[in-house]
Formats: sequence, C-alpha cells, structure tokens
Amino acid sequence: MTKYVAVAGKGGVGKTTFITLMLRQMIHKKRGISILAVDADPNANLNEALGLTVTTTISELLEGKKNIKTVSDSAENITFMKNLQKSLICTPNFDFLAMGDPQGPGCYCYPNNILRMYLETLGKNYDFVAVDTEAGMEHISRLTIPHIDIMFIVSDSSARGIRSARRVNDLIQGLKADIGEVYLIVTHTVKNSLESLAEEIAQTGLKLIGDVPYDELIFQQDLISKPLYDLPDEAISVRAVDKILRQTNIL
Ligand SMILES: Nc1ncnc2c1ncn2[C@@H]1O[C@H](COP(=O)(O)OP(=O)(O)OP(=O)(O)O)[C@@H](O)[C@H]1O
Ligand SMILES: [Mg+2]
Repeated sequence: MTKYVAVAGKGGVGKTTFITLMLRQMIHKKRGISILAVDADPNANLNEALGLTVTTTISELLEGKKNIKTVSDSAENITFMKNLQKSLICTPNFDFLAMGDPQGPGCYCYPNNILRMYLETLGKNYDFVAVDTEAGMEHISRLTIPHIDIMFIVSDSSARGIRSARRVNDLIQGLKADIGEVYLIVTHTVKNSLESLAEEIAQTGLKLIGDVPYDELIFQQDLISKPLYDLPDEAISVRAVDKILRQTNIL
C-alpha cells in the first residue's frame, strides 16, 4: 500500500526543508523503496532543494483544458492522463512531479478532476509519496491530493506561527479530505523554544512530534545555493528529521 505524507503550514516555516530531508533519509535508509516526490507549490522550489531541474509542470500541460465542463469520452481522459506523464522526472532514487502554477481565471474543475485521477493512478505505483504544499493549502482544499496518511503541520518557533498551525489544523479538520494522522513540527528552534511555546502548543490540540533546531548548515547551504539534500548525516537538522520519521514509523 502506498503511504502518502504531506506538509502544511504558513509561508517560510520550513515545509520544503522538512520534505527534502525526509526524502533524503528515506533514500539513504530505506533502500529499494519506490518514492514519488510531488511539489504542489505553484512557487515551486522543492526541485532546487533536491538538486533537480524542472522542465515541464502539470499546470503547463493542463493549460487549455480549463473551462471544459466534463469529457464523456473516458478514452480522451486516458489519453490526457498519459500526456501528463511528460511532466514526470525520473531519477535513480525517486521520481518527481511539479504541479506548477495554474494561470489566470477560469474553471479548473475538469483539470482538477483529471489531476486527482492522475495522482491516484500514479501514486499506486510507489511505496511512498511525499507532497510539499503551498502555504495556502489550495491543493488540499481543492482535494486534488487524493489521500494523506500522515500530515505534518509545520510551524516556526514563534507564538504567531503556532497559532497559525492551529488555524491550519482547524481548516484541515473542516475539510472532507481523507487525512489520517496529523502532527505538529516546530522548526528553527533554539534552546528553550519549546518550553516557551508550550502553552500555545497545548492549545493547538496537536501532538508535537518533534522539532527541527535552527541549523547553521542550512543557512550556509542556502547562501551558496547548494541543494539541502546534500547536507551531511551529522547536520543537526538531518538528525532531527530522522528522529521525527522514526517516531512516526515512516523510517
Ligand atoms: N531548521 C532550520 N534552520 C535554519 N534555517 C532553516 C531551517 N528550516 C528552514 N530554514 C530556512 O528557512 C527558509 C524557509 O524554509 P522553507 O523554504 O523550507 O520554508 P517553506 O515553509 O517551504 O516556505 P514556503 O511557504 O515559501 O514554501 C529557507 O531559507 C530555509 O533554508
Ligand atoms: Mg516551500
């Protein structure tokens, strides 16, 4: 059975960083499992963190398909889904899909339905699907992501960040989305961050599964535009993500 893991949370809190380090650990430690990484953020940058170049996004292939109400001919749907495979990047360790940025106004019902069918069909080919989302959670509220086993709500080390995580959780609970476990992760932590935030964290009603401390190596890697995927095993952030993955039985 495919395991779907996704992140949510406000802008700039460390969602892409977490997904990148999660993929890193899965690839290093769970050799042989098939992995699909999905960048569902229109302002895509998971590829950069992973050291990949994206040539075609799903949205580019969906252009021209909006405003179509339905297509009765299922053969046409299947042809189109096959066409979407052009956006799949295959690497030796994992496959990668970028959703891209849906352009302009119009009805996206048909492309969204096709996208959901495509992701459902595609996902079944993998053991593990990791989805990086945009801050606004558009893909989750439009239900283009079929099913999520584990959702990590990410917050930075601020009371405002934790309150935002709480709102994200409220939103998730209000959706008809098929989501299994939901956990909180606090990033950019320094000494005593979690103690100071304890009351706010308790009010979210979320289980704090771990924290990713502020890591100078991430800062250095960003500075010289190197993929975060290349962080060393001993990086404090890598060790922290590893621990979180073990807590949730992902690793
Ligand atoms: N633990 C950490 N220590 C130091 N810097 C970090 C840490 N986690 C993330 N960062 C840095 O914080 C910035 C935002 O991180 P990231 O891009 O992962 O956030 P995001 O939630 O995906 O943002 P967006 O909502 O824009 O997609 C990046 O410059 C990243 O390198
Ligand atoms: Mg991001």
